[in-house]
Amino acid sequence: MTRIGSLVLTCFLAATALAQQPQVQHKPHDEWWEHAVIYEISPRSFQDSNGDGIGDINGITSRLDYLKGLGIDAIWINPMYPSPGIDYGYDISNYTAIDPVYGTMADFDHLVAEAKKRGIRVIMDYVINHTSDQNEWFKESRSSRTNPKRDWYIWRDGKGPGKPPNNWQSWFGHSAWTYDTKTGQYFYHYFYPQQPDLNWRNPEVHKAMDGVLDFWMKHGVSGFRIDAVSRLFEDPNLHDDPYLPGFNAYGDRNIEHKYTDNYPEVHDVLKELRRVVGKYPGDPVLITEADEPNIAELTKMYGNGDEVQLPMDFQIADVNKLSAPEFRHLFNEIENNTAHGQPEYFFSNHDQPRQWDRYGDGVHNDQIAKLMATLLLTTRGTPQMYYGEELGMRTTEPTRIEDVHDPIGKLGWPKEKGRDGERTPMQWDSSKEAGFTTSATPWLPIPPSASLNNVATEKEDPNSIFNTYKLLLALRRSEPALRDGSYQAVNEDDQNVFAYLRKAEGSTILVALNMSGEARTISIKGVHAPSATALYQSPASSTAEVQLDHITLAPFGVLVARVQ
Ligand code: GLC
Repeated sequence: MTRIGSLVLTCFLAATALAQQPQVQHKPHDEWWEHAVIYEISPRSFQDSNGDGIGDINGITSRLDYLKGLGIDAIWINPMYPSPGIDYGYDISNYTAIDPVYGTMADFDHLVAEAKKRGIRVIMDYVINHTSDQNEWFKESRSSRTNPKRDWYIWRDGKGPGKPPNNWQSWFGHSAWTYDTKTGQYFYHYFYPQQPDLNWRNPEVHKAMDGVLDFWMKHGVSGFRIDAVSRLFEDPNLHDDPYLPGFNAYGDRNIEHKYTDNYPEVHDVLKELRRVVGKYPGDPVLITEADEPNIAELTKMYGNGDEVQLPMDFQIADVNKLSAPEFRHLFNEIENNTAHGQPEYFFSNHDQPRQWDRYGDGVHNDQIAKLMATLLLTTRGTPQMYYGEELGMRTTEPTRIEDVHDPIGKLGWPKEKGRDGERTPMQWDSSKEAGFTTSATPWLPIPPSASLNNVATEKEDPNSIFNTYKLLLALRRSEPALRDGSYQAVNEDDQNVFAYLRKAEGSTILVALNMSGEARTISIKGVHAPSATALYQSPASSTAEVQLDHITLAPFGVLVARVQ
């Protein structure tokens, strides 16, 4: 979801605080996705292999050794299907092919095979709510009111000349209904008008979309990230959404998406999708993009263990500031989810400003980036990274509307500059095009920060953000407490330091994160050991021995220490 979405949700659909529940016993972790680290790749921006300035599949394949060396277990690749590219590939015109801009099906099969050799799994993006208006299904659907595919999409009469069926708004601004002159009806689109919504109340749509899963499973993928899943169903009676105070960046009145989000039928679809992928060996994973408004809705995504294994936790990702109490509350809440589901955490993705800027205070950004890396990689759950996060890549927004690619940036300029800023090319080295391409015109310009924040340069600096990620990823793999252990917050009334224990049999690790800009001294409560040995400290310290009744953390300081 977009930053505007996050804001609206934060302001108006504030999370329902559930009462603190007792610690839950988790079953021993044994599924690959429970201890994997997932790395999100934008194929357009990761590595160009043919010099056209646009990243591609062979480019990703050529960087698998890098990912392996970093310690990644699975890659989730943003859509690579044929697409007019109105929404960076989230408008799909053919679900069972590869867009020639990214390569061929043979390139894709090669990528999956090479990834497998390195123990890396491939997860596809599954865009389920809508297709492109250039998809053959929609072309047929719009061709006449009696076409057999008419009901594959949501067509309604207007309320009168020039009047859409109701007040529903697109997430990307203005009415969610577009009039089609040929057949004299409106079609519904939660996103751009070029992204008509599929009608999930039509069984043929189920059949077609289940077939898409089968197709990619047979090409060796290990699962799917399901796009915009809470938007699948709308009120069949077309009630108007309630208005909220104020206006959005597009100049529309704010509304609550009450009649278009989170319909219970979503869960029947999720169960069905799980059954489809469950026919295949290897425990394929389903991950949902669903920016759920509260823990109750988030928990529903797990079903009875028969829906998705990893619903992304947008509540945590949307904490847009460093706050020990807020993070503690949300990590405790998901830890104690009543479905006993595995949490899935992330702080950056292709729709959000990058975390280096979002949490940075303008002075300690690199230190804060290390703190956020520690939070991501030492809590209990499946971490998801976004390419370049391991370098401290920053959000580099366009400065002129003429340079904007993302349509929401064109529509919302200058309040909403779009998502180009978080989608700039990966920074591999300090050369002019950052090792991303040999073209002098990469599809988005290389950010100035690439001269310092790049893989080649950061590899050489033991204190770099890159080496922090590398070390923490290795610790997560080698330390049973971090890989599989339980999680328990300690010092729960501390307003500045978020501290927790990860425990496995015979091993306990303490993590303490100073989320304030001042040095803090804490005494760890409830641990029956006088001291601990640091496994990672930032800023670095010459002494590894730490007294648990007197730990001093620098501003935004981080400690990961073995207690026993
Ligand atoms: C999801 C994607 C976003 C896209 C939207 C419409 O939120 O993450 O990038 O624009 O769906 O498909």
